[in-house]
Amino acid sequence: MSQATQASGGVDVWVEVNGVERAAAVEPRLLLVHFLREVLGLTATEIGCDSGHCGSCTVLLDGTPVRSCTTFAVQASGRRIMTAEGLSADDSLSPIQQVFWDEHGVDCGFCTPGMILSAYALLQTNPAPTDAEIRRAISGNLCRCMNYAHIVRAIAAAAVKLREEGESSEEGEP
Ligand code: FES
Repeated sequence: MSQATQASGGVDVWVEVNGVERAAAVEPRLLLVHFLREVLGLTATEIGCDSGHCGSCTVLLDGTPVRSCTTFAVQASGRRIMTAEGLSADDSLSPIQQVFWDEHGVDCGFCTPGMILSAYALLQTNPAPTDAEIRRAISGNLCRCMNYAHIVRAIAAAAVKLREEGESSEEGEP
């Protein structure tokens, strides 16, 4: 994919978002969170503090959680982005979203998209995290409802569920 290039009226940005290539000419100082929400119409990414403290705006950039309120859209050009919309291919809940629901990991829900993306990134590299590792992975995501006990329990349950699903799909392989 191409990198950002200066174009008349803005800077051209090419990204792959949730598996789909998107491009737009944007103002050079446009923040990634505004690019996602206002240019691409992906409004699952929340804006909380707008200053890099709360983690509500977390998205995955090439698989790594980043705060999209402190990242310029041009910095994401040529890279892969995953937002909460990318967790599920249709209107159904993904396994990790379902477990958050089942384990009461969602309270007011404002931190949930960023929280789940941080959990998703953790489970990609560590399929059996300890509670301490889970707490470290979500330490940049603040929950204003203080629902951390349920969130940690949900992520631990999601790890078990994803491992079980992985094992059963391996058993089904020829
Ligand atoms: Fe980005 Fe709070 S809105 S860290």
